[in-house]
Amino acid sequence: MQGPRRIAIDGPAGSGKSTIGEQLARHLGYLYIDTGATYRAVAWLALHEHVDISDGAALQRLTRHAEIEISRPQIKDGRQYTVTVHGRDITWDIRSTEVTRAVSIVSAHPEVRSILISQQRALAQQDHVVMVGRDIGAVVLPDAELKIYLTASLGERARRRYTELEEKLGSHNSTLPSLEEVAKDIQRRDDLDRDHMQAARDAIVIETDHLSIQQVLEAIIHYVEDKQ
Ligand code: DC
Repeated sequence: MQGPRRIAIDGPAGSGKSTIGEQLARHLGYLYIDTGATYRAVAWLALHEHVDISDGAALQRLTRHAEIEISRPQIKDGRQYTVTVHGRDITWDIRSTEVTRAVSIVSAHPEVRSILISQQRALAQQDHVVMVGRDIGAVVLPDAELKIYLTASLGERARRRYTELEEKLGSHNSTLPSLEEVAKDIQRRDDLDRDHMQAARDAIVIETDHLSIQQVLEAIIHYVEDKQ
């Protein structure tokens, strides 16, 4: 297989990195790894086992012994991949509001980050990969052959997330939050994630406010072809 072996895609919540990362990996026949899922799996496990998410040492023990696996999806229910912890399928559980709230706190602990970063590096050894996250190009894979950093304004990211929720829940669903609530939530996550959110100096920055998914994908494929 020609082309960059490791493609890093970073960006804030709602920048489109998972949708684009997954489609790019499928197009290229690469393995898709969403590192956010590994942080979410630890957050889910902490909540499930009643571990205090402010306790770095307890989270370190939990993360060290957690058997987290991310594999290609076997079930066709809209999932991008399957996530298991100790053999239990938690693919959809890690998307809950509780996990989304807890994960920014869990992922801020350096003890958790260092363990997960080593695991992510090991995963990237096995295949041609598209790895998606916040710090892939700068920290996890500083030697990645292609690094992309996706950005979008807070307003645009909130609109995208709101449309996604509306499609999922239906526009008359009483649990559908308002656009303002969605924007506030993304702002809160941006604030919490800021410390480990880094664009690599050699990343190609793509501002996606006025671009469709297809346009972003085409732009990245163009950069991939340039590297061949
Ligand atoms: O992309 P996401 O929403 O699934 O990410 C979940 C959380 O994990 C988010 O709070 C940021 C954190 N994260 C991180 O710190 N580093 C990564 N490489 C990926 C995610």
